[in-house]
Amino acid sequence: REPVVGSSILNALEKYFAVAVQRAYPELPDAPVIISLSGNSKFGDYQCNSAMPITQLLKAKGEKANPREVAQKLMDSVPPFSWVEKLEIAGPGFINISLSRSVGHRALKDLLENGVHPPPVDRKITVLVDFPSPNIAKDMHVGHLRAAIIGESVSRLFEFVGHKVLRVNHLGDWGTQFGMLITHLQDIYPDYQTKSPPISDLQTFYKESKKRFDEDAEFKKRSYESVVKLQSFDPVYNKAWQLICDVSRKEFQKIYDRLDLTSTEIGESFYQSRMEQVVKELEEKGLLEEDEGRKVMFGRSDRIPFTIVKSDGGFTYDTSDMATIKYRIHEQKADWIIYVVDAGQSTHFEVLEACAVKAGILDPKKVRMDHVQFGVVLGEDKKKFKTRSGETVKLAALLDEGLKRAGDKLKEKGRDQVLTPEELRVAQEAVAYGCIKYADLSHNRTHEYIFSFDKMLEDKGNTAVYLLYMLTRIRSIGRLAGFTPEALKESAKNTPVSLDHEKEWNLAKVILRFPETLEKIMRDLLLHHLCEYLYDVSTAFSEFYDNCYCVEKNPKGEIISVNVGRLLLCEVTASVMEKCFQILGIRTVSKM
Ligand code: ARG
Repeated sequence: REPVVGSSILNALEKYFAVAVQRAYPELPDAPVIISLSGNSKFGDYQCNSAMPITQLLKAKGEKANPREVAQKLMDSVPPFSWVEKLEIAGPGFINISLSRSVGHRALKDLLENGVHPPPVDRKITVLVDFPSPNIAKDMHVGHLRAAIIGESVSRLFEFVGHKVLRVNHLGDWGTQFGMLITHLQDIYPDYQTKSPPISDLQTFYKESKKRFDEDAEFKKRSYESVVKLQSFDPVYNKAWQLICDVSRKEFQKIYDRLDLTSTEIGESFYQSRMEQVVKELEEKGLLEEDEGRKVMFGRSDRIPFTIVKSDGGFTYDTSDMATIKYRIHEQKADWIIYVVDAGQSTHFEVLEACAVKAGILDPKKVRMDHVQFGVVLGEDKKKFKTRSGETVKLAALLDEGLKRAGDKLKEKGRDQVLTPEELRVAQEAVAYGCIKYADLSHNRTHEYIFSFDKMLEDKGNTAVYLLYMLTRIRSIGRLAGFTPEALKESAKNTPVSLDHEKEWNLAKVILRFPETLEKIMRDLLLHHLCEYLYDVSTAFSEFYDNCYCVEKNPKGEIISVNVGRLLLCEVTASVMEKCFQILGIRTVSKM
């Protein structure tokens, strides 16, 4: 049976050649089916590179074989498939695959009629995405910005394909630092139970209490007592803790709103009683070992310890993550847990996974766990990202600067002359937050990345500014020719998308790669593939537009003819680009 329209082509070709390999070589059940995109359209659109490894396998069994013959045998064994127009053997035994225009026509018609939809998935699952998970009383820093941007986009991707996504903000709202914060609050705002304390700057408040904690033994002692009171849910202490958390929460929320980010808070404090339970469980299973007064667990043979109980009886980040993963698997029923956290914590998550498996909490055959790690953000001097005076950069200030720079950029291009003030404001925000997100997402997340407003605001190359601008231009082509999106949709019913010109067909084939691009990202969780894809679409579009008239005008500038089939191609290009932006969490604008 042929795959449904809108399925991944790469995936369909893999299945198609898998049949051929099985028919031609039933004695080689493990023969690899290797399909890749062709680097050069001279060699077809895709390639099957299975003949070489199959030849090796045959030779290993003592049979005579040569790759061109193997390729021929594969070609003779493929089932009929309307998506493929032509197969050709090339070089030592590659099979070049050319797609048929008929699949292009069908898929693009489907896109026009039904909108951009995700590739079908075998099974709908529950994916839990842990992000951006900042810590109370500490500012969100650029690392959390990366977590926010990547986590949001990963969540959107899985929502788009139809999985159930639990976006969880694992807020750092628990731990011994609250002892000193609460004690300090009680000292300087004794009537906090009735009147909200006027803490505007929690950073300073944190520093003040830390200073007292380090210098004043009596304060330190009271701070420890406060922790005990807090963790036994004493209402007075709980109230103080709530007040402090709310100050941070409000600041965080402003950032989330600006970035269009949603994540439901289930902070570390939520797990207090579950930590007690999980410690008991680990103890009963005999998994804890004494180590200088601490209780530790070893998940791996390298014996990197996971500290489950501190020597003073308190719990740690490790304890909290053990309780959390158990809750996520057993109560939230997550099939896939994705931690979007900086690469500095990779050992923590590796040991967590090992310990969870060892404790029988995580069955790797049933639940997948990924640490979606990312590298540090560097300044343009390639050193750790800092302000000029050497402090960590506050996110709010960074977003403000982005806004200002985006505004300057638009004015520099004279857009303030063309757009209404409201349109300008919308464009400014889209560009500012869009460029910050795109710069982050378009780099391989595992590498460190250099934060540069100048680079991200360039209007050439693979940047948000260029791509957003391109999208508005594409959208304007139909509009200027007098077609509303509804009118185009109507035309699509009886006009085929124009695919005769080589550049039209090339553009269409890039558009058809959308499903396989998503499938790839769902495997490796690397969103820069989507940015590269978006850039490929826009490049293919430019080539098409430079070579193919959509609208013809006379010397007076009056429209003399409109090629509706080409306008339809513009329309699908725009809708695929728009969907990419949406998954990347970037707002698009109709004018900029
Ligand atoms: N609050 C931590 C930090 O800022 C990140 C928490 C990530 N999630 C987790 N389950 N450990 O470093």
